[in-house]
Amino acid sequence: MSDDPLALDPEELRRLGHWVVDRTVEHLATLRDRPPVTERAYADLAALLGGPPPAAPADVEEGLALLADVALEAQQHGDHPRYFARVPGPSSPVAVLGEWLAVGMQAIASSWGGGSGTATLELVVLGWLRDALGLAPAAEGILLSGGSIANTTGLLVARAEAGSGVLYLSDQTHSSIRRGALVTGWPAADVRVLATDASQRLAPAVLAAAVAEDVAAGRRPACVVATVGTTNTGAVDDLPGLASVARERGLWLHVDGAYGGPAALPPDAGVAGLDLADSFVLDPHKWLFQPYDVACLWVARPGALHRTFAMHPEYLTDAQRGPGVGVVAADEVDLHNRGLELTRHARAAKLWLTLRTYGLDAVAAAVARGVRLAEMAEALARERGWEVVTPASLGIVTFAVPGLDDAGHRELAAALTADGYAALSSTVVEGRRVLRLCTINPGTTTDDLEGTFAALARLLG
Ligand SMILES: Cc1ncc(COP(=O)(O)O)c(C=O)c1O
Repeated sequence: MSDDPLALDPEELRRLGHWVVDRTVEHLATLRDRPPVTERAYADLAALLGGPPPAAPADVEEGLALLADVALEAQQHGDHPRYFARVPGPSSPVAVLGEWLAVGMQAIASSWGGGSGTATLELVVLGWLRDALGLAPAAEGILLSGGSIANTTGLLVARAEAGSGVLYLSDQTHSSIRRGALVTGWPAADVRVLATDASQRLAPAVLAAAVAEDVAAGRRPACVVATVGTTNTGAVDDLPGLASVARERGLWLHVDGAYGGPAALPPDAGVAGLDLADSFVLDPHKWLFQPYDVACLWVARPGALHRTFAMHPEYLTDAQRGPGVGVVAADEVDLHNRGLELTRHARAAKLWLTLRTYGLDAVAAAVARGVRLAEMAEALARERGWEVVTPASLGIVTFAVPGLDDAGHRELAAALTADGYAALSSTVVEGRRVLRLCTINPGTTTDDLEGTFAALARLLG
């Protein structure tokens, strides 16, 4: 008999573990028959999940059922085949298995001595993806929790390596980037938001003019953020054009591919110039079929991540292997010295298992399917005589119903979600509120798309 007050008998753990597996499989198998989004009031949820702090023990099966049936049901199911809102998260079953195992084995990827196997997984997946995406061959990377943190980390490296000065964003740059820049000390007066063109792209000439104006006023241009796949419309900035302005003017080019980066995997996707990025972000928990959370950041300049983030506290010296400690092994990286996290979940386990199991060709085909689904959705909007506001681009299409005003579009999006068949977003394009579909779930069928347009038409009456 163990004295450990938290001990769980291995056979009991096995039985409960099977319950969790069975419940998850049932959830995934029946997901398409349930609504993509369930939202409940706090009072309802807290009545079931809250109460006074639990001093006495309670039944674990009852707790698991409350988790599954109440807490985890009341959310947006980003992996639902008719969840087209915001950015879906169509995680693959194989990735779930990798994550489960890593969690079960309390996997850590921090110092080399603390997790050489997990660090190797991370270095390997970052290398596989870097090469498959065509990033700079010497680029070094790190896995982080999401696009917001990864982009902000990229900007911290940019400032450490290239110095402070003016930061150029576009009016379509994800809002988390401006927030990240400001809270990490970029002065608001040094952050310029440039207007995009009619295709929601940042034109190189607009950047060049803004840079020239700042130089003439005695300011120092430092960094520009380009986007591959804007969240609103899937627009892809002209990377070669922006890179040539950046090179000429000595700017750091950070590319946010958090959403759209995977579109560079299919051979014919038309995403060019990722090799020109000084730093690049991609979120596997968006379009690389991973459970939350995982983002990738690569920095082209070798050693830059380490120069920006390395620290060497006395108590870690035994476990560290990278530069800055007594033991230096070229390939053995202390990943906590490439970012701001010290204790880090081994996020690579799920990603490694996914890429190794399906292979890059199948993953690229799944991404290409998302691109095609948006093209089908565009055709369905046209068939109904609705206005295509921005054509399908990297899995996103926006459209408007003639005669419906801003409030009407917003209400229609809400009504569809409440109806429970499908969920989409409303957003603003060029000052107008429109409807937006993001179709990156490879499990979405043509019937799902047709049914969604039929449901919208039915709700319009
Ligand atoms: C283009 C882009 N960048 C950054 C982000 C922020 O990513 P995260 O939500 O993982 O922090 C998003 C989120 O949708 C995005 O679409």
